[in-house]
Amino acid sequence: MQIPSEENVQSAIQMRRMPFEYTDDIEPHWRPDQPEWSHMVNGASLTMPFLEPFLNVNMNEALPNISDPQILADAVAFIGQESQHYRQHRKYNSLLKRKGYPELVDVEGAMDASFKRLAGKSLAFRLAYTAGFETLTLGATEWVVTNRMEMFKNSDLRIASLLLWHLVEETEHKTVAFDVYQDICGSYWQRIYGLLYASYHMVFWTRQGYIAMLKKDGLWRDLKSRRRLWRRSLAATAAFGKHILHGLMPTHDPRQINDPKWVIDWMARYEAGGSGVPLLNQQTLSNIEI
Ligand SMILES: [Fe+2]
Ligand SMILES: [Fe+2]
Repeated sequence: MQIPSEENVQSAIQMRRMPFEYTDDIEPHWRPDQPEWSHMVNGASLTMPFLEPFLNVNMNEALPNISDPQILADAVAFIGQESQHYRQHRKYNSLLKRKGYPELVDVEGAMDASFKRLAGKSLAFRLAYTAGFETLTLGATEWVVTNRMEMFKNSDLRIASLLLWHLVEETEHKTVAFDVYQDICGSYWQRIYGLLYASYHMVFWTRQGYIAMLKKDGLWRDLKSRRRLWRRSLAATAAFGKHILHGLMPTHDPRQINDPKWVIDWMARYEAGGSGVPLLNQQTLSNIEI
């Protein structure tokens, strides 16, 4: 990996090693009254150890072609953060397979094959996919941070902590994949194709994961369960859709999107070594105001 030391340019993006543990007392229904919401998050988690290494391979391949030393430093930091993310999700996903859902191995196998096929595409397409996925994470952060009290009420806050840490760091590196794409490729139409393809691809694989888990639970054909799933899916579509629409604009730049105050506060508290972050409890969840 090329290190931007000769330019003496450093990235403000931090790599945080988090002390999460996934002990067997964590239930896959981490929000017990909402198995559908639990599995939507679990389905997204299942994709991460395939998606994020794919993003990192793309960024790593791009490094020698990056002309701007600051973008290069940030791209190296991006790779560091994503590496931590998928390692944590891989551990959590092992717990899911251990605790009732061994059939997820089949979903993982199919997902692995899909990402291997994508790895054979051009670097320009893969960087457009990378920037496109990072646009989706802005929607995820805004949605989850804004609704965190409802989403994580009466839930296992170890999973909330994992998700919120991941989303905070996604916000922190929100400009990097876009900047790399613009620096190396820059084609508007290819960026749009990458954004739409990444959106379809991620929804498809997240669904494969949660459908498998809901089938195992005997809930997939249950009308009440399906209604709860639709309600949450509709809210997700609105939240992600807003950012996809923003991403479709020729003038799109992630810098135009303000970081939620809660995210800024989370980082400040981490920096200060404050208690409660990263391992949230019900009180810290509510005390950190948006
Ligand atoms: Fe990530
Ligand atoms: Fe990311």
